[in-house]
Amino acid sequence: MNEIMKTILSRRSIRRYEERQLKEQDLQEILKAGSFAPSAMNQQSWHFTVIQNRAVIDSIAAAAGKALDRGEPFAPFYNAPTLILAFGQEGAISPVSDASLALENMFLAAASLGAGSCWINCVIDFFEKTQEGKAMRKTLGIPDGYRCVGSGIFGYPAEQPEAKPRREGTIHYIR
Ligand SMILES: Cc1cc2nc3c(=O)[nH]c(=O)nc-3n(C[C@H](O)[C@H](O)[C@H](O)COP(=O)(O)O)c2cc1C
Repeated sequence: MNEIMKTILSRRSIRRYEERQLKEQDLQEILKAGSFAPSAMNQQSWHFTVIQNRAVIDSIAAAAGKALDRGEPFAPFYNAPTLILAFGQEGAISPVSDASLALENMFLAAASLGAGSCWINCVIDFFEKTQEGKAMRKTLGIPDGYRCVGSGIFGYPAEQPEAKPRREGTIHYIR
């Protein structure tokens, strides 16, 4: 099996991380992989905010937990050392698809480097639907004209979960 197939098949969503931060070289490779994702009409309509400050990540988790009424304790980012918020440009052809493909490229790049990752969804409701989230956008320097598409957490994995069974019947051939 080639290396890309091995990486695709072995990538898992990681929810337990080592405390150490990603090496800068690994972070840059991950971001580069994201920037080389396909995008509608090559618009590259994404914007990423990379957060590697523990206090800032925790403050987003706390504010989101409160604003979304998720109760305590709310630890959506699983104490991962790096959080990448993904935004898509309003008015682009397919901002959600563009940013999502970029995130998946990042997840695969992370796996290929021995790092772990997981998509975290609650940021969408937080940054799009709550006053607290809209206010925090300013603090974080999120540019105007972008909608939150999701986020990814990254770090070195402290677990390697098994793949879940694949659903049957999701492919129909006509040939
Ligand atoms: C759009 C999307 C949203 C997700 N949101 C979350 C989330 O908020 N929290 C979480 O722990 N995992 C989240 N996941 C990860 C999925 O639970 C995970 O991909 C799925 O269970 C399959 O496991 P695997 O990635 O290890 O193959 C999300 C995945 C996707 C694609």
